Amino acid sequence: MNIPVNLGERSYEVVVEAGARRQLAGLVSRLAPEAQACCIITSERLLTEGWFDVDSGINQYTITVPDGEESKTIEVLGEVLEQLAEAKLSRKDLVISVGGGAVTDLAGFAAATYLRGISIIHIPTTLLAQVDAAIGGKTGINLAAGKNLAGAFHQPLAVLCDLEVTTTLPPEEIRSGLGEVAKCWLLEGKSSSEIISSTPQGFIELAVGLKARIVSGDERESGARALLNYGHTLAHAIEKLALAQGSPIRHGEAVAIGIRFAIRLASALGRVGDDEVKETDLVLAGFDLDFAIPTQFKTADLIQAMSHDKKAHHDLTFVLASREGFSVVSGIDREIVTRTLEEFRRDE
Ligand SMILES: NC(=O)c1ccc[n+]([C@@H]2O[C@H](COP(=O)([O-])OP(=O)(O)OC[C@H]3O[C@@H](n4cnc5c(N)ncnc54)[C@H](O)[C@@H]3O)[C@@H](O)[C@H]2O)c1
Repeated sequence: MNIPVNLGERSYEVVVEAGARRQLAGLVSRLAPEAQACCIITSERLLTEGWFDVDSGINQYTITVPDGEESKTIEVLGEVLEQLAEAKLSRKDLVISVGGGAVTDLAGFAAATYLRGISIIHIPTTLLAQVDAAIGGKTGINLAAGKNLAGAFHQPLAVLCDLEVTTTLPPEEIRSGLGEVAKCWLLEGKSSSEIISSTPQGFIELAVGLKARIVSGDERESGARALLNYGHTLAHAIEKLALAQGSPIRHGEAVAIGIRFAIRLASALGRVGDDEVKETDLVLAGFDLDFAIPTQFKTADLIQAMSHDKKAHHDLTFVLASREGFSVVSGIDREIVTRTLEEFRRDE
C-alpha cells in the first residue's frame, strides 16, 4: 500500500509492502532524475544482514555509523558530513538511510544540513522506525543535556517500509515498535477484539496512515501532532531515569506503561470511566505489552522527570482520552498525578 503524506510541494509517499526496498532504483530515477550519486548511511551491523541488497541504480557510496543511539552524536554527525563532502555529493544527489530510528534521525539531520539540505529517502529497518521515526520529517541527534535536543525538520522524498527487512529483528525490538502501534490503535478508536483479525502489514498501515494524516495537517507540532505523544509524558520520564541508572528500557515498553497510566489519570479526572480503563489494558495486553512501572523508580523522581519533559513546558502535561476524543491537557494538579501514580503502582 502507498500512503501519502500531503505537504504541498514536499508531499511524499510511504510504501508499505514486502520487498519495498527493491523499488528504490525506480523511485530515484523518478523523484531525483538528475541525481548521479547517493550515499547510503547505515550501521556496520546491518550491512551483514541477508536482505541488505540496496540498489539505488546510480553510483552509491556507503557510510557506516555506530549501532543504535551511539550514532546520534555531534561527533558522528560531523564525520558523516565530512564523508558526504569527500564523496563530492552535489545538491542534486541524495542520501539513503537504511536503519532503525537512530540511523534515520542522524542521516535525516545530515541530509538537512549538508549543502544546506539535500534529498533523502528512508528505508527504515525497525518496526519503530517504519511506523514512527522515518515519517514526518523530524530529524536529530542527542546532546549531553538530553535526547533529540538538536535537529531539523526535513521531509524525505519517499519512505520504503519493507516487511522483509523486519524479519531479522529481535523480539524486544518488535515489542518496542508495537508500543507505538498500540498507541495508534487506541488513538484511532480501534477495539481490543479487532487485534486478532489484523496482520503485521495491517498494523503498520494503520500506524503509518494515522501519522501521515496528522503530519499532513500539522507538520511542526503546533496542534494535532502533539496527540501522537499519547503515553509519552510518563514514558519519557521512565526512559530518562532508566538511562541514568544504566539500564535503558525499550521505547515501546515505556510508551505502553505511559498509556496505562494516562488512561487511569483520565479516569481520576472524570474524563473516562472504568470500562475505558479496562479496554485500554486489553488493547495493550493484545499487543503483549501489559507492563507495569519498574519498581526501582521512585514516584517522586518520576513526577520530577515528568515536569522537565521537553514537551511539557515545565508543567504537568498529558495527552488524555475523554469520551469525545483525545486532547492535550496542561497544568494538571501534581497531587492528582502523584496519587494516581501511587494507586497504579499499588494495584499492579
Ligand atoms: N524522528 C522521529 O519522529 C522519531 C520518532 C520516534 C523515535 N525516534 C528515534 O528513534 C530512535 C529509536 O529507534 P529504534 O527503536 O529503531 O532503535 P535503533 O535505531 O537504535 O535500532 C535498535 C537496534 O535494532 C537494530 N536493527 C535495526 N534494524 C534491524 C533489522 N532489520 N534486523 C536486526 N536488527 C536491526 C539496530 O542495529 C539497533 O541495534 C531513537 O533515537 C528515537 O529518538 C525518532
